[in-house]
Amino acid sequence: MTGVSLQKPSKVSIIGAGRVGSTYAFTLLLRGTADEICLIDDNKERALGESMDLNHAMSLVERTTIWAGSIQDVVDSDLVVISAGSAQKPGETRMDLIHRNAKIVGDIAEKVGQLAPNAILMVVTNPVDVMSYVAMVGSGLAPQRVIGSGTMLDTARLRYVIGDELGISPQHIHASIIGEHGDSEIAAWSRAAIAGTSLRNWALSETHLQSMFEEVRDAAYNIINLKGATYYAIAVAMAKITEAILRDLRSVYSVSCYIGGEYGVRGVYLGTPAVVGREGILRVIELPLSDDELEALKNSADTVRQAINDLSLKPAPFYQRLLKKASGFDFSQELDIEPELLTPHPSTGSSGNVSPSGMSASDISAGDVLTSIETGAEDKVNVQKKAVYHKQPRPINARRPHRTSRSV
Ligand SMILES: NC(=O)c1ccc[n+]([C@@H]2O[C@H](COP(=O)([O-])OP(=O)(O)OC[C@H]3O[C@@H](n4cnc5c(N)ncnc54)[C@H](O)[C@@H]3O)[C@@H](O)[C@H]2O)c1
Repeated sequence: MTGVSLQKPSKVSIIGAGRVGSTYAFTLLLRGTADEICLIDDNKERALGESMDLNHAMSLVERTTIWAGSIQDVVDSDLVVISAGSAQKPGETRMDLIHRNAKIVGDIAEKVGQLAPNAILMVVTNPVDVMSYVAMVGSGLAPQRVIGSGTMLDTARLRYVIGDELGISPQHIHASIIGEHGDSEIAAWSRAAIAGTSLRNWALSETHLQSMFEEVRDAAYNIINLKGATYYAIAVAMAKITEAILRDLRSVYSVSCYIGGEYGVRGVYLGTPAVVGREGILRVIELPLSDDELEALKNSADTVRQAINDLSLKPAPFYQRLLKKASGFDFSQELDIEPELLTPHPSTGSSGNVSPSGMSASDISAGDVLTSIETGAEDKVNVQKKAVYHKQPRPINARRPHRTSRSV
């Protein structure tokens, strides 16, 4: 590369520096994807330890500023990633995690919405389609700015399994898993092709296709039984989504996105091919499916919708105003909210409405940040931005004194 880039340095904040979050940070570091990575975790020692370990590779890779921060440090992020929360244990389904993780993701998303309203939010925490929806409602970000990793991992697994079977590079196999990232997901076999030739022409029987699908669908269970968790392939998938966002690549990936009528479905997050770029989901691609596949996709959407309904999410009203202003997206229709819930509460000035975290609007101290964003005055946000810039990166002439000797 020649010349000096005048672009603003790219910043990725990772909330949840466990196995997935830290492996993702490592993948970004190896690929030189981001200029700055901020690791945030409830377990501060863990985030600090991971950042130290990653920094020690710095003389061997392209420079990235990596540090351990707290939730306030998401300010000025281009991308905020939520990988915090519980992971499946042997015998658990992704849906078993729902209540535990909805509280964690809802709380985090709310703060991200206040502190980094211009960021894209990527959700990985499971069950990822439900959590993406929780994050959208909690953050108040426009639906196209909240992306779940969805069935990108499952799609990568499917391409690997088909490629392995046929002796062809997985990169040249076009096949997708769509729907819930979970037990109700489906393989869109009718669209699967190699160089435009339908996979059905490749001498694979229906039984064979079904067994390949089951291998993919059950892969997480099998890996968790063998080694406790999955993190390498998902980290690479996350890195690819990150590159599409930070570099505005407009790549097509099977990610979890808000479905607003495609496939005859509305009001859920589901995995489907979509165009991903700097502004998030630029376009949901509606695959032309067979009747059976479409029916299975609708059933999958119902599974996710049922799980969302069970959470009884209610966004705080000022989020709705912000969101409506930004994108014309109306939460009151989306969540079927009674109009009286949106009117101010007589004693507090807020509605009796609660956010996914259980916080009422009046509890959120940074509410004025949102108001200032709405009115175009960004004072508070700017104050926080400056604070962070003073902290990182360290100026070149301010290095710690060289150690001339050390005890062994
Ligand atoms: N979408 C996918 O394809 C996919 C793939 C693999 C894992 N996952 C999911 O990713 C999530 C993380 O998995 P993992 O294996 O890294 O788990 P992990 O237990 O190793 O890490 C989770 C981390 O989250 C932190 N955390 C918990 N609550 C927090 C909070 N409120 N704020 C900040 N940090 C908090 C924990 O301290 C821990 O370090 C799980 O929900 C898992 O199911 C998703």
